[in-house]
Amino acid sequence: MTGPGLRQPEIPRDRLMAETRLKALRACMAEAEAAYYQHDDPIISDAEYDALHAEVLAIEGHFPDLVTADSPSQTVGAVPAGGFAKVNHARAMLSLSNAFDDDDVIEFFGRVRRFLSLGEDEPVELTCEPKIDGLSAALTYENGVFQLGATRGDGAVGENITENLRTLQDVPARLAGAGFPDVIEVRGEVYMAKADFAAMNDGLASEGKKVFANPRNAAAGSLRQLDPSITASRPLRFFAYSLGQVSGPVGETHWDLLGRLSDWGFVTNPLNRLCRTAEDVLAFYHDIETRRADLPYDIDGVVYKVNRFDFQSRMGQVSRSPRWAIAHKFSAERAVTVLRDIMLQVGRTGALTPVANLEPVTVGGVVVSRATLHNEDELGRKDLRAGDTVVIQRAGDVIPQVVEVLADRRPADSAAFVFPDACPVCGSPAIRPEGEAVRRCTGDLVCEAQVVERLKHFVSRDALDIDGFGARNIEQFFGYGWLARPGDVFRLGAQAAEIAGLEGWGETSAANLQAAIEARREIPLDRLLFGLGIRQVGQTTARLLARRFETAAALFEQFERVADGDMVAEAELLDIDGIGPGVVEDIARFFANPDNRAAVDDLLGEVEVQAVTAPVISEDAKLAGNTVVFTGTLTRMSRAEAKARAEALGAKVAGSVSKKTDLVVIGLDAGSKAKKATELGLETMDEDQWLAFLG
Ligand code: IVH
Repeated sequence: MTGPGLRQPEIPRDRLMAETRLKALRACMAEAEAAYYQHDDPIISDAEYDALHAEVLAIEGHFPDLVTADSPSQTVGAVPAGGFAKVNHARAMLSLSNAFDDDDVIEFFGRVRRFLSLGEDEPVELTCEPKIDGLSAALTYENGVFQLGATRGDGAVGENITENLRTLQDVPARLAGAGFPDVIEVRGEVYMAKADFAAMNDGLASEGKKVFANPRNAAAGSLRQLDPSITASRPLRFFAYSLGQVSGPVGETHWDLLGRLSDWGFVTNPLNRLCRTAEDVLAFYHDIETRRADLPYDIDGVVYKVNRFDFQSRMGQVSRSPRWAIAHKFSAERAVTVLRDIMLQVGRTGALTPVANLEPVTVGGVVVSRATLHNEDELGRKDLRAGDTVVIQRAGDVIPQVVEVLADRRPADSAAFVFPDACPVCGSPAIRPEGEAVRRCTGDLVCEAQVVERLKHFVSRDALDIDGFGARNIEQFFGYGWLARPGDVFRLGAQAAEIAGLEGWGETSAANLQAAIEARREIPLDRLLFGLGIRQVGQTTARLLARRFETAAALFEQFERVADGDMVAEAELLDIDGIGPGVVEDIARFFANPDNRAAVDDLLGEVEVQAVTAPVISEDAKLAGNTVVFTGTLTRMSRAEAKARAEALGAKVAGSVSKKTDLVVIGLDAGSKAKKATELGLETMDEDQWLAFLG
């Protein structure tokens, strides 16, 4: 996220200029908030909004008498169109990994074959479906009656929009036919057809109302209405394409399922097709691509899914996407615009990221006025200069990028951009270590941008997850001097009255925030550690470390010893599977800074840290805590699948045999590892025994 460091705002010198500038900023922000909250139709990016907000704070900081009750610094944005109850998805709503060209698709085919250990002549069928550009929804039916409809949300928790979904013609109130399980959750895409969208926008415009930017935004805005009668008046449609939870079996293949869904009264896409070879699949893709503009709805690619359900369940998922499906995206849309200037954004770890400030231009239905320039080298390679005419591209949710400079349109007086060696926010030296691509501000906690970004990270969803505590609140509270380091979050109670008195807040919302903060005083060690925002200590690393040391006292003592140069302590960290020298170095650097140590101590005084327990392993965790080694060739299962299956049963899979190994699975032509296993008297299995063991 972009913080106040997006660009050090220029503060007008005199009061009159400051007042004029503030007025303009406030008007801009009010318009942006209305678009975002009331119309689900953002007109600027979050980063741009944050930059405006930071500028308001900076100017008001210099001219405190210009603070008015309705200033954005005193409000927390318009009331969201929220108010829906939450729904926990019984099965997570996953997303899809992407393929961008034919080679990626061929590689996907290969991966599927290798994972399943399929022979050359064994067919792999894939279903191919247009990827509808709408928003996904989950519809639960009990005994054939529609009971619950939810949005995807973050994949784990969505919003209950049952009454709104009920108004869609394509959502049957009762399932038709027979043979459906008692409980069945049907998933699919809510969308608006292009013609319906155009007609609806005409209607809105003639009533003097604001129109939607594209069919996707229109569908999202129409679905998230608190009043279902508004949703009912909007031309929304639904294509069914998969299942969530089910109480019984529904056929053996995805293709069967699509047939059944249509028997039960759902609309499935008539363009869906079953393909057997990579050639067929690619022919389907290119055919759809040429017909894209003529289709009655927007699509952004084609989805391929392994057809057999038994294959799907064997393949499982990686992080948030299934291994058995992929989205083949259409190429990005491009546009030409002018680069106004290059700004520098300072991130949580001090990284300086150049950002292009562009003349706003519409790309693929969205107005773009910022693009990432990645890093110093990339900027140098492209030799981008203020005033240049550039080609930008935007694909899906990816941040827009500058792909090309039109050199013949460069103004004669343009000057090369000089990357500063001081932080634009705090002025500390900005250093780029040899071999690294990123220049970083060395100001650490002296740098306001880093402090604010760290605080945002600390309360964010994957860290402390303080409900309702958004990035903008952090900026605001920081601006008032109520927050500077993580521990301060837990002392915000002292400001309860002031918070309640802020524009946009009240007793209830202030009390809710307080309750959300209190609810996190008891916090698992891994979240706490991740929340500190140490470079390279992501969620996985934080979990590994938390599991190894169990208590905060042991963990932080270890880190401090490492920072103090204790080689044994360092070796102990390096001994943890998955912890490498880079991470250790960053931990040492963090704890070598006395301010950071003090901030951690201060935080520990506020919270009660919970030990992190081992993950709940699915099924009966037959191999929990065991170390398994595979050696030799397995004939009916790839190594990748064998490893995934063992891990799903709680095992750690190692590459070499030692006394610590609990089980060695020996395939064909095994060599020294099998021999060593016998010598050490370890438990072994051949492939048949392994398969029997898996059941
Ligand atoms: S399958 C695990 N099929 O694409 C399966 N998704 O990036 C996940 N989408 O959130 C979904 N058309 O909103 C699937 N025929 C289709 C789809 C489709 C559009 C969307 C859906 C999902 C996103 C995944």
